[in-house]
Amino acid sequence: MTKNHPPLPIDPYYEGVPDYMTEVYDWAYVDPKWVNALDHNLVVRVLLFLNDQRLMRAYLKEISPGMRVWQVAHVYGDLVKRAAHKVGSSGAFHLTDITPAQIEHAVHKLSGLEWAKVIRSDAATFGGLGPEAYDLICSFFLLHEVPEEKKYAIVNNMLQKLPKGGKLDFVDYHNPSKWQPIRYILKVVNRLLEPFAEALWDNEISHYAKNADRFVWEKQTFFAGVYQCVVVRHKD
Ligand SMILES: C[S@@+](CC[C@H](N)C(=O)[O-])C[C@H]1O[C@@H](n2cnc3c(N)ncnc32)[C@H](O)[C@@H]1O
Repeated sequence: MTKNHPPLPIDPYYEGVPDYMTEVYDWAYVDPKWVNALDHNLVVRVLLFLNDQRLMRAYLKEISPGMRVWQVAHVYGDLVKRAAHKVGSSGAFHLTDITPAQIEHAVHKLSGLEWAKVIRSDAATFGGLGPEAYDLICSFFLLHEVPEEKKYAIVNNMLQKLPKGGKLDFVDYHNPSKWQPIRYILKVVNRLLEPFAEALWDNEISHYAKNADRFVWEKQTFFAGVYQCVVVRHKD
């Protein structure tokens, strides 16, 4: 006779975390030991080949005090704190993320800032303040980490929250020039660690939008095409 054992309790750090996160990014964003070890400015600096500050500036320069800002995912280091401080107490800063470990870090970084809210949510389905509700919505290096169908869902949810006069800001990987040696390093990194990243070498971010032609897509590239910043607005 077989004995019925009670189900094992689910580790709270893994509860509700999508498969692509546990299968591909467990070491980076799900396991709290790794998150504690990696959440530092220096790690971002190294991962971005010393381009961290100019890429962060591309986002931070779009923030004015008093704005309603939604940042769709947490980032290691002090970026979320800098963004929230720039928004200031007359605005609203909403930060979402999908893993409990990253949420814990975000809550700690933004504690004491009443205008900042940390919300555990999938950026693809986050309801936020409602449709057309944010002045600025930023995805800082999220798209390259999610599977294709999730890229479509995230981009379209962000577009849905964009009012006339508002902006989306995507900072992410891009197709590097053939002469940029980093291209070949990233090819190896992508094969080993980042299976969803190279889609951004082949597709413009506008490719993921249902009604791309209703918006203006302004792209700037950095570091011989390794990175891109795309600012999106409604067409007049
Ligand atoms: C912004 S990206 C990577 C940025 C960069 N590597 C860093 O942290 O410095 C990583 C974050 O996206 C989160 N994430 C992944 N899928 C998500 C989703 N569907 N919705 C919201 N956050 C998500 C992960 O939990 C992680 O915290």
